[in-house]
Amino acid sequence: MTAKFLGSILRLLGRDVYAQDGLITVHNHDFMEDQAFQTAYQRGVKSGNVDYHFEWRVHVALWAASIAKSLRGDFVECGVNKGFLSSAIMQHLGWNALDKTFYLLDTFAGPAEELLSAAERKAGYAERSKRGSDIGFYAQTVKDVRENFKEWNRVRIVQGTIPETLNLVDAESISFLHIDLNCSQPEIAALDHFWPRITLGGVILLDDYAYVGFRLSKEAMDALAAKRSFKILSLPTGQGLIVKTA
Ligand SMILES: C[S@@+](CC[C@H](N)C(=O)[O-])C[C@H]1O[C@@H](n2cnc3c(N)ncnc32)[C@H](O)[C@@H]1O
Repeated sequence: MTAKFLGSILRLLGRDVYAQDGLITVHNHDFMEDQAFQTAYQRGVKSGNVDYHFEWRVHVALWAASIAKSLRGDFVECGVNKGFLSSAIMQHLGWNALDKTFYLLDTFAGPAEELLSAAERKAGYAERSKRGSDIGFYAQTVKDVRENFKEWNRVRIVQGTIPETLNLVDAESISFLHIDLNCSQPEIAALDHFWPRITLGGVILLDDYAYVGFRLSKEAMDALAAKRSFKILSLPTGQGLIVKTA
């Protein structure tokens, strides 16, 4: 039974329900009516002219970015695609007024499938990304992505395959890191690489951590968390949240 269907039933029963993106709840979701949230969310939609209906994930990301805004350090996103989440963040924070650089890393030509492990292939990661390619989900050219971000200053678009491009990020410190590659090996490499430069109190958001179908991503992140001694909060949105405390 889909979240949408269950949502319809709950609505018929008079409940104010949030039912999107694998998450169904009758808990408060006032942010959906918040004008600042909607403006940011719609800027995300504009980046690729598509609405993924993942408002609660964006709500979490905007909160994380708002915390990171007041800390020393730049912002980094690994896995940008057409720029939904980073555009929403820049809109929300009023990026041009901040003295920060946003590093945006992606192939801008779809997933680097050669980095998927045999186990990930078996678990359907490659099929999922093929379905994405078939429906035009992935950015095909960096030109359109540059066009999307041209209204903002201090944006560094880093095109290429992670982990090779990680060294091109010359930020001394980082207060916000978003990782969304749908592939464990470069995700682990990215977090391990940037970890020493994450500011105390800095926020790291993992898009696939608890998402349905991404168990191997969670297991790989849990192993890194044990090695680096940090804790990951598993969120009902499918995201994982880390705050660097030591
Ligand atoms: C789910 S999408 C990211 C969505 C994005 N965060 C947004 O807000 O719309 C995953 C992205 O990761 C990129 N990607 C996957 N593996 C990569 C790698 N090893 N190096 C660089 N980019 C990669 C893909 O090209 C794709 O754009």
